[in-house]
Amino acid sequence: MDSARPHERPTAFDRMLIPVQRWIWSDADRRVQKLLRFSETETDGGRDILRAAEVTSDPLLRRLYLEHAIDEFRHGVLFRHRAAALLKVSPCRSSPGFQGDWLTPGGHGLDDLQVDGESDSDMLAFLHLSEKAAASRFTVYRDVMQHDPPTRAVFEEILHDETFHMNYTLTQLARVEPKRHRRHLWRARLSRLWKVYLRLATGLAGILGSMLLAIQYFVLLPPFAWLAKRAARRELSGWTTVSPGASESLDRQY
Ligand SMILES: [Fe+2]
Ligand SMILES: [Fe+2]
Repeated sequence: MDSARPHERPTAFDRMLIPVQRWIWSDADRRVQKLLRFSETETDGGRDILRAAEVTSDPLLRRLYLEHAIDEFRHGVLFRHRAAALLKVSPCRSSPGFQGDWLTPGGHGLDDLQVDGESDSDMLAFLHLSEKAAASRFTVYRDVMQHDPPTRAVFEEILHDETFHMNYTLTQLARVEPKRHRRHLWRARLSRLWKVYLRLATGLAGILGSMLLAIQYFVLLPPFAWLAKRAARRELSGWTTVSPGASESLDRQY
């Protein structure tokens, strides 16, 4: 697809993370893993948008969604080919270490998108925000990739499409809902915020759970272990002589 509009500037949050991104992308193994993951995300997103093309009753949207889906599949292929080229130059270690996935989310963030049952306007609002987020992140990834011109070129090419996706979805939303498109955008924004909150809350719950288990292990368990050891020391080892007559009762052991 072609776009005449300029690229979106990265958000303040994405700009703030530029030093971290530079560090994350500086490692060749991590770069390969990330590109492969991005490839999967783009292909999955393409599948969802293809489904959106099937369910919409708007002929123009169907055509645009189809082209959009083709773009996303192509992005998946571009990322995969670049990862394969990097692998040929330097095969990956078995474990690339810290990935920082939550800091470097891939693609358009179409996860959790339920295509069936969504209205055209809700779908367009969601797609617009997702593509906008992708354009912002890919701008940063492209800018921190000065040490790897071929990967930078891949991001540049994909960014061009993402910017078009971001723009056409907004234009179509204004066409489908000329009066209420802002309301749809705000609703989609709130829905994304809620999902971000749920993701953060889940992550935080995992961290708190691990901390509580560690506290239990190091604070609560040692006294019990000490008591068990003390009781074990008091036990006589080997066979114990039972006094005559003590074992006559059938109701007790001794
Ligand atoms: Fe894409
Ligand atoms: Fe896209």
